Amino acid sequence: MDKRYRIAVIPGDGIGKEVVSEGVKCLHALSEIYESLQFEFQNFPWGSDYYLQHGKMMPENGLDILKEFDAIYLGAVGDPRIPDDLTLHGLLLPIKFEFDLYVGLRPVYLFPGVESPLTHISEGEIDIVVVRENTEGEYSNIGGIVGIGEHQQAIQSALFTRKGIERIITFAFEFAREKGRKKVTSITKSNAQRYGMVLWDRIFKEISSRYPDIRTESKLIDAACMDVVRNPKGYDVIVASNLFADILSDLTASVTGGLGLAPGASFNPQDRTYPGFFDPVHGSAPDIAGKGLANPIAAILTAKMMLDYLGEAEAGALLYLAVKQNLAEKKMRTMDLGGRSKTHEVGDDVVRILRSFK
Ligand code: NAD
Ligand code: IPM
Ligand code: MN
Repeated sequence: MDKRYRIAVIPGDGIGKEVVSEGVKCLHALSEIYESLQFEFQNFPWGSDYYLQHGKMMPENGLDILKEFDAIYLGAVGDPRIPDDLTLHGLLLPIKFEFDLYVGLRPVYLFPGVESPLTHISEGEIDIVVVRENTEGEYSNIGGIVGIGEHQQAIQSALFTRKGIERIITFAFEFAREKGRKKVTSITKSNAQRYGMVLWDRIFKEISSRYPDIRTESKLIDAACMDVVRNPKGYDVIVASNLFADILSDLTASVTGGLGLAPGASFNPQDRTYPGFFDPVHGSAPDIAGKGLANPIAAILTAKMMLDYLGEAEAGALLYLAVKQNLAEKKMRTMDLGGRSKTHEVGDDVVRILRSFK
Protein backbone atom coordinates (compact mmCIF):
# COMPACT_ATOMS: atom_id res chain seq x y z
CA MET A 1 0.00 0.00 0.00
CA ASP A 2 1.26 3.44 -0.85
CA LYS A 3 1.96 5.67 2.07
CA ARG A 4 1.65 9.36 1.66
CA TYR A 5 2.75 11.47 4.58
CA ARG A 6 1.71 15.06 4.90
CA ILE A 7 4.62 17.14 6.13
CA ALA A 8 4.36 20.81 7.11
CA VAL A 9 7.68 22.44 6.31
CA ILE A 10 8.59 25.65 8.14
CA PRO A 11 12.05 26.76 7.04
CA GLY A 12 11.87 29.73 9.43
CA ASP A 13 14.81 32.09 9.79
CA GLY A 14 18.49 32.34 8.97
CA ILE A 15 20.20 29.02 8.28
CA GLY A 16 16.89 27.27 8.97
CA LYS A 17 15.95 27.98 5.36
CA GLU A 18 19.25 26.65 4.05
CA VAL A 19 19.32 23.39 6.01
CA VAL A 20 15.67 22.39 5.74
CA SER A 21 15.81 22.30 1.96
CA GLU A 22 18.66 19.76 2.23
CA GLY A 23 16.57 17.55 4.50
CA VAL A 24 13.63 17.75 2.08
CA LYS A 25 16.02 16.89 -0.77
CA CYS A 26 17.03 13.70 1.06
CA LEU A 27 13.39 12.76 1.69
CA HIS A 28 12.65 13.20 -2.03
CA ALA A 29 15.56 10.88 -2.80
CA LEU A 30 14.17 8.29 -0.39
CA SER A 31 10.81 8.47 -2.19
CA GLU A 32 12.61 7.50 -5.39
CA ILE A 33 14.27 4.56 -3.66
CA TYR A 34 11.17 3.33 -1.85
CA GLU A 35 8.42 3.89 -4.36
CA SER A 36 5.67 3.25 -1.84
CA LEU A 37 7.02 6.01 0.42
CA GLN A 38 5.57 9.33 -0.64
CA PHE A 39 5.52 12.77 0.93
CA GLU A 40 3.25 15.68 0.41
CA PHE A 41 5.19 18.72 1.55
CA GLN A 42 3.49 21.99 2.26
CA ASN A 43 5.74 24.97 2.79
CA PHE A 44 4.85 27.68 5.30
CA PRO A 45 6.76 30.96 5.00
CA TRP A 46 6.23 31.73 8.68
CA GLY A 47 8.88 33.29 10.89
CA SER A 48 10.58 36.64 11.30
CA ASP A 49 10.12 37.97 7.75
CA TYR A 50 6.44 37.11 8.09
CA TYR A 51 6.43 38.94 11.44
CA LEU A 52 7.88 42.08 9.90
CA GLN A 53 5.07 42.04 7.33
CA HIS A 54 2.14 40.90 9.44
CA GLY A 55 3.07 41.67 13.06
CA LYS A 56 2.91 38.00 14.02
CA MET A 57 5.06 34.93 13.46
CA MET A 58 2.28 32.81 11.97
CA PRO A 59 -1.40 33.36 11.18
CA GLU A 60 -3.89 33.38 14.05
CA ASN A 61 -5.07 29.90 13.05
CA GLY A 62 -1.52 28.62 12.45
CA LEU A 63 -1.80 25.80 14.97
CA ASP A 64 -5.16 24.72 13.49
CA ILE A 65 -3.49 24.50 10.11
CA LEU A 66 -0.55 22.51 11.47
CA LYS A 67 -2.61 20.03 13.41
CA GLU A 68 -3.86 18.40 10.20
CA PHE A 69 -0.37 17.24 9.23
CA ASP A 70 1.45 14.01 10.09
CA ALA A 71 4.60 15.86 11.10
CA ILE A 72 6.14 19.34 11.20
CA TYR A 73 9.68 19.89 9.94
CA LEU A 74 11.22 23.20 11.02
CA GLY A 75 14.61 24.81 10.41
CA ALA A 76 15.10 27.46 13.08
CA VAL A 77 13.53 30.61 14.46
CA GLY A 78 15.29 33.79 15.55
CA ASP A 79 16.26 37.08 13.94
CA PRO A 80 18.49 39.83 15.34
CA ARG A 81 15.93 42.46 14.22
CA ILE A 82 13.24 41.17 16.58
CA PRO A 83 13.40 40.35 20.30
CA ASP A 84 13.89 36.60 20.72
CA ASP A 85 11.08 36.22 23.24
CA LEU A 86 8.59 37.52 20.65
CA THR A 87 9.74 35.24 17.87
CA LEU A 88 10.13 32.05 19.88
CA HIS A 89 6.92 32.50 21.85
CA GLY A 90 5.21 33.36 18.57
CA LEU A 91 6.12 30.22 16.69
CA LEU A 92 8.33 27.45 18.05
CA LEU A 93 7.31 27.18 21.68
CA PRO A 94 3.50 27.23 21.15
CA ILE A 95 3.78 24.16 18.91
CA LYS A 96 5.41 22.09 21.67
CA PHE A 97 3.16 23.45 24.41
CA GLU A 98 -0.21 23.50 22.66
CA PHE A 99 0.28 20.11 21.02
CA ASP A 100 1.54 18.68 24.33
CA LEU A 101 4.67 17.26 22.70
CA TYR A 102 6.21 16.52 26.04
CA VAL A 103 9.20 14.47 24.91
CA GLY A 104 12.20 16.24 23.45
CA LEU A 105 14.69 13.71 22.13
CA ARG A 106 18.18 14.96 21.33
CA PRO A 107 20.67 12.21 20.53
CA VAL A 108 24.37 12.75 19.86
CA TYR A 109 26.98 10.30 18.67
CA LEU A 110 30.66 10.75 17.91
CA PHE A 111 30.60 9.57 14.29
CA PRO A 112 33.62 7.96 12.64
CA GLY A 113 35.36 10.74 10.74
CA VAL A 114 34.37 13.44 13.22
CA GLU A 115 36.78 14.74 15.81
CA SER A 116 35.69 15.60 19.31
CA PRO A 117 37.26 18.75 20.78
CA LEU A 118 38.06 16.53 23.74
CA THR A 119 41.29 14.58 23.63
CA HIS A 120 41.52 10.84 24.27
CA ILE A 121 38.03 10.24 22.91
CA SER A 122 37.63 8.08 19.85
CA GLU A 123 34.80 7.61 17.41
CA GLY A 124 31.75 5.89 18.79
CA GLU A 125 32.80 6.54 22.37
CA ILE A 126 30.24 9.25 23.00
CA ASP A 127 26.66 8.10 22.54
CA ILE A 128 24.23 10.16 24.58
CA VAL A 129 20.50 10.81 24.32
CA VAL A 130 19.19 13.87 26.10
CA VAL A 131 15.52 13.44 27.02
CA ARG A 132 14.07 16.89 27.51
CA GLU A 133 10.85 17.80 29.29
CA ASN A 134 9.17 20.03 26.70
CA THR A 135 5.95 21.39 28.15
CA GLU A 136 6.51 22.91 31.58
CA GLY A 137 9.30 23.67 34.06
CA GLU A 138 11.26 26.85 33.55
CA TYR A 139 9.51 27.48 30.21
CA SER A 140 6.07 27.84 31.79
CA ASN A 141 4.81 31.21 30.75
CA ILE A 142 4.20 32.48 34.27
CA GLY A 143 5.36 35.86 35.46
CA GLY A 144 5.62 39.44 34.41
CA ILE A 145 7.56 42.68 34.59
CA VAL A 146 6.18 45.59 36.63
CA GLY A 147 7.39 49.01 37.66
CA ILE A 148 9.50 51.59 35.93
CA GLY A 149 13.11 52.68 36.16
CA GLU A 150 14.92 51.50 39.24
CA HIS A 151 11.67 50.03 40.55
CA GLN A 152 11.37 47.45 37.82
CA GLN A 153 10.70 43.94 39.02
CA ALA A 154 10.28 40.69 37.21
CA ILE A 155 8.83 37.43 38.38
CA GLN A 156 9.58 34.30 36.42
CA SER A 157 8.05 31.16 37.82
CA ALA A 158 8.74 27.55 36.94
CA LEU A 159 5.88 25.08 37.09
CA PHE A 160 6.69 21.47 37.87
CA THR A 161 3.79 19.04 38.08
CA ARG A 162 3.89 15.44 39.31
CA LYS A 163 2.22 14.37 36.07
CA GLY A 164 4.75 16.26 33.94
CA ILE A 165 7.75 14.92 35.83
CA GLU A 166 6.44 11.36 36.01
CA ARG A 167 5.71 11.09 32.33
CA ILE A 168 9.09 12.38 31.12
CA ILE A 169 11.09 10.26 33.57
CA THR A 170 9.01 7.17 32.76
CA PHE A 171 9.60 7.84 29.07
CA ALA A 172 13.36 8.06 29.67
CA PHE A 173 13.38 4.65 31.38
CA GLU A 174 11.10 3.02 28.82
CA PHE A 175 13.24 4.44 26.03
CA ALA A 176 16.42 3.15 27.70
CA ARG A 177 14.92 -0.32 28.08
CA GLU A 178 13.62 -0.45 24.53
CA LYS A 179 16.94 0.65 23.05
CA GLY A 180 19.06 -1.58 25.27
CA ARG A 181 20.66 1.37 26.99
CA LYS A 182 22.14 0.77 30.40
CA LYS A 183 21.95 3.97 32.40
CA VAL A 184 19.69 6.95 33.04
CA THR A 185 21.11 10.10 34.61
CA SER A 186 18.73 12.69 36.00
CA ILE A 187 20.10 16.21 36.23
CA THR A 188 18.64 18.88 38.51
CA LYS A 189 19.70 21.63 40.91
CA SER A 190 17.78 20.73 44.01
CA ASN A 191 20.34 22.20 46.37
CA ALA A 192 19.25 25.65 45.25
CA GLN A 193 15.88 25.14 43.54
CA ARG A 194 14.07 23.89 46.58
CA TYR A 195 10.64 22.97 45.30
CA GLY A 196 10.25 21.92 41.68
CA MET A 197 13.56 20.15 41.51
CA VAL A 198 13.19 18.52 44.90
CA LEU A 199 9.91 17.06 43.64
CA TRP A 200 11.70 15.96 40.47
CA ASP A 201 14.43 14.16 42.44
CA ARG A 202 11.86 12.44 44.62
CA ILE A 203 9.92 11.18 41.60
CA PHE A 204 13.11 10.09 39.84
CA LYS A 205 13.93 7.91 42.84
CA GLU A 206 10.43 6.42 42.90
CA ILE A 207 10.39 5.59 39.22
CA SER A 208 13.96 4.29 39.08
CA SER A 209 13.07 1.61 41.64
CA ARG A 210 10.74 0.13 39.00
CA TYR A 211 13.65 -0.35 36.59
CA PRO A 212 16.20 -2.47 38.45
CA ASP A 213 17.78 -3.48 35.13
CA ILE A 214 18.90 0.09 34.46
CA ARG A 215 21.64 1.91 36.34
CA THR A 216 20.64 5.32 37.63
CA GLU A 217 22.38 8.40 38.77
CA SER A 218 21.19 11.78 40.00
CA LYS A 219 23.47 14.77 39.46
CA LEU A 220 23.53 18.50 39.97
CA ILE A 221 23.63 20.53 36.78
CA ASP A 222 26.88 22.36 37.57
CA ALA A 223 28.80 19.19 38.36
CA ALA A 224 27.13 17.39 35.44
CA CYS A 225 28.33 20.02 32.92
CA MET A 226 31.85 19.63 34.25
CA ASP A 227 31.61 15.86 34.15
CA VAL A 228 30.16 15.63 30.60
CA VAL A 229 33.38 17.34 29.47
CA ARG A 230 35.64 15.32 31.78
CA ASN A 231 34.04 11.95 31.21
CA PRO A 232 31.46 11.94 28.37
CA LYS A 233 31.64 8.15 28.18
CA GLY A 234 29.91 8.03 31.56
CA TYR A 235 26.62 9.26 30.06
CA ASP A 236 23.98 7.27 28.25
CA VAL A 237 20.40 8.58 28.64
CA ILE A 238 20.10 11.95 30.36
CA VAL A 239 16.73 13.19 31.57
CA ALA A 240 16.28 16.80 32.62
CA SER A 241 13.93 19.73 32.82
CA ASN A 242 13.12 21.99 29.88
CA LEU A 243 15.87 24.54 30.53
CA PHE A 244 18.58 22.21 31.79
CA ALA A 245 18.10 19.78 28.92
CA ASP A 246 18.20 22.71 26.49
CA ILE A 247 21.60 23.72 27.82
CA LEU A 248 22.85 20.16 28.09
CA SER A 249 21.91 19.43 24.49
CA ASP A 250 24.20 22.20 23.20
CA LEU A 251 26.94 20.83 25.45
CA THR A 252 26.53 17.22 24.31
CA ALA A 253 26.43 18.47 20.69
CA SER A 254 29.66 20.33 21.24
CA VAL A 255 31.64 17.31 22.48
CA THR A 256 30.49 15.25 19.49
CA GLY A 257 31.46 17.68 16.72
CA GLY A 258 29.13 20.61 17.18
CA LEU A 259 25.66 21.93 16.58
CA GLY A 260 25.94 21.15 12.87
CA LEU A 261 25.40 17.47 13.67
CA ALA A 262 22.78 17.50 16.44
CA PRO A 263 19.18 16.56 15.56
CA GLY A 264 16.01 16.87 17.59
CA ALA A 265 12.50 15.47 17.80
CA SER A 266 9.50 16.49 19.89
CA PHE A 267 6.46 14.25 20.21
CA ASN A 268 3.88 12.74 22.48
CA PRO A 269 4.52 8.99 22.65
CA GLN A 270 1.03 8.15 23.93
CA ASP A 271 -1.14 10.52 21.99
CA ARG A 272 -0.89 11.21 18.27
CA THR A 273 -3.76 13.68 18.10
CA TYR A 274 -1.23 16.29 17.06
CA PRO A 275 1.73 15.98 14.73
CA GLY A 276 5.27 15.42 15.96
CA PHE A 277 7.63 18.34 15.62
CA PHE A 278 11.13 17.99 14.22
CA ASP A 279 13.86 20.61 14.38
CA PRO A 280 17.61 20.48 14.85
CA VAL A 281 19.10 21.60 18.16
CA HIS A 282 20.80 24.62 16.61
CA GLY A 283 19.29 28.04 16.01
CA SER A 284 19.17 30.39 13.04
CA ALA A 285 22.91 31.20 13.32
CA PRO A 286 22.76 34.81 12.07
CA ASP A 287 26.57 34.91 12.07
CA ILE A 288 26.75 32.53 9.09
CA ALA A 289 23.26 32.82 7.59
CA GLY A 290 22.78 33.33 3.85
CA LYS A 291 26.31 32.24 2.96
CA GLY A 292 25.87 28.53 2.33
CA LEU A 293 28.16 27.74 5.25
CA ALA A 294 25.70 25.94 7.52
CA ASN A 295 26.08 22.24 8.09
CA PRO A 296 22.85 20.55 6.98
CA ILE A 297 23.62 17.22 8.70
CA ALA A 298 21.74 18.14 11.88
CA ALA A 299 18.64 18.89 9.81
CA ILE A 300 19.11 15.72 7.75
CA LEU A 301 19.42 13.60 10.90
CA THR A 302 16.31 15.39 12.15
CA ALA A 303 14.51 14.18 9.02
CA LYS A 304 15.72 10.69 9.93
CA MET A 305 14.08 11.04 13.35
CA MET A 306 10.90 12.15 11.61
CA LEU A 307 10.96 8.99 9.48
CA ASP A 308 11.31 6.86 12.62
CA TYR A 309 8.36 8.67 14.17
CA LEU A 310 6.26 8.04 11.05
CA GLY A 311 7.06 4.33 11.32
CA GLU A 312 9.49 4.38 8.37
CA ALA A 313 12.44 2.92 10.22
CA GLU A 314 13.95 1.27 7.15
CA ALA A 315 14.11 4.53 5.20
CA GLY A 316 15.38 6.22 8.35
CA ALA A 317 18.15 3.67 8.74
CA LEU A 318 19.21 4.16 5.13
CA LEU A 319 19.40 7.92 5.59
CA TYR A 320 21.45 7.39 8.74
CA LEU A 321 23.87 5.14 6.86
CA ALA A 322 24.25 7.74 4.13
CA VAL A 323 25.07 10.45 6.67
CA LYS A 324 27.53 8.11 8.36
CA GLN A 325 29.28 7.46 5.07
CA ASN A 326 29.43 11.15 4.20
CA LEU A 327 31.08 11.88 7.54
CA ALA A 328 33.46 8.91 7.33
CA GLU A 329 34.62 9.88 3.83
CA LYS A 330 35.61 13.37 5.10
CA LYS A 331 35.43 14.77 1.56
CA MET A 332 32.24 16.81 1.46
CA ARG A 333 31.90 18.70 4.69
CA THR A 334 31.15 22.22 5.81
CA MET A 335 33.43 24.69 7.53
CA ASP A 336 32.45 23.71 11.08
CA LEU A 337 33.98 20.29 10.41
CA GLY A 338 37.06 21.77 8.80
CA GLY A 339 35.79 21.42 5.22
CA ARG A 340 35.10 23.83 2.38
CA SER A 341 31.85 22.46 1.01
CA LYS A 342 28.68 24.49 0.81
CA THR A 343 25.46 23.50 2.54
CA HIS A 344 23.84 22.26 -0.67
CA GLU A 345 26.94 20.28 -1.68
CA VAL A 346 26.75 18.27 1.53
CA GLY A 347 23.03 17.64 0.90
CA ASP A 348 23.85 16.56 -2.68
CA ASP A 349 26.53 14.22 -1.38
CA VAL A 350 24.13 12.52 1.03
CA VAL A 351 21.70 12.08 -1.88
CA ARG A 352 24.50 10.64 -4.05
CA ILE A 353 25.31 8.10 -1.34
CA LEU A 354 21.62 7.24 -0.90
CA ARG A 355 21.32 6.54 -4.62
CA SER A 356 24.43 4.37 -4.53
CA PHE A 357 22.61 2.06 -2.08
CA LYS A 358 19.82 1.44 -4.57
P1 NAD B 1 22.82 29.08 17.16
O1 NAD B 1 22.58 27.65 17.43
O2 NAD B 1 22.03 29.68 16.08
O3 NAD B 1 24.38 29.30 16.82
C1 NAD B 1 25.42 29.07 17.76
C2 NAD B 1 26.75 28.92 17.01
O4 NAD B 1 26.78 27.68 16.33
C3 NAD B 1 26.97 29.99 15.94
O5 NAD B 1 28.33 30.34 15.88
C4 NAD B 1 26.55 29.30 14.66
O6 NAD B 1 27.19 29.78 13.50
C5 NAD B 1 26.95 27.84 14.94
N1 NAD B 1 26.05 26.91 14.24
C6 NAD B 1 24.76 26.64 14.59
N2 NAD B 1 24.23 25.77 13.72
C7 NAD B 1 25.17 25.50 12.81
C8 NAD B 1 25.20 24.68 11.64
N3 NAD B 1 24.14 23.95 11.24
N4 NAD B 1 26.34 24.64 10.92
C9 NAD B 1 27.42 25.34 11.31
N5 NAD B 1 27.45 26.14 12.39
C10 NAD B 1 26.34 26.22 13.13
O7 NAD B 1 22.62 29.86 18.53
P2 NAD B 1 22.48 31.44 18.83
O8 NAD B 1 23.47 32.18 17.98
O9 NAD B 1 22.53 31.57 20.26
O10 NAD B 1 21.02 31.78 18.36
C11 NAD B 1 20.68 32.43 17.14
C12 NAD B 1 19.18 32.61 17.10
O11 NAD B 1 18.54 31.33 17.01
C13 NAD B 1 18.58 33.27 18.33
O12 NAD B 1 17.55 34.09 17.88
C14 NAD B 1 18.04 32.11 19.15
O13 NAD B 1 16.98 32.47 19.99
C15 NAD B 1 17.58 31.18 18.06
N6 NAD B 1 17.53 29.75 18.37
C16 NAD B 1 16.52 29.05 17.76
C17 NAD B 1 16.47 27.68 17.90
C18 NAD B 1 15.41 26.93 17.17
O14 NAD B 1 14.71 27.51 16.36
N7 NAD B 1 15.24 25.65 17.38
C19 NAD B 1 17.45 27.02 18.64
C20 NAD B 1 18.45 27.76 19.25
C21 NAD B 1 18.49 29.14 19.09
C1 IPM C 1 16.12 25.00 21.31
C2 IPM C 1 16.14 26.48 21.47
C3 IPM C 1 14.81 26.99 22.02
C4 IPM C 1 14.53 26.33 23.35
C5 IPM C 1 14.79 28.52 22.20
C6 IPM C 1 15.17 29.20 20.95
C7 IPM C 1 13.51 29.00 22.75
O1 IPM C 1 17.22 26.88 22.25
O2 IPM C 1 15.23 24.47 20.64
O3 IPM C 1 17.05 24.34 21.81
O4 IPM C 1 15.21 26.55 24.33
O5 IPM C 1 13.56 25.56 23.40
MN1 MN D 1 18.62 25.30 22.63
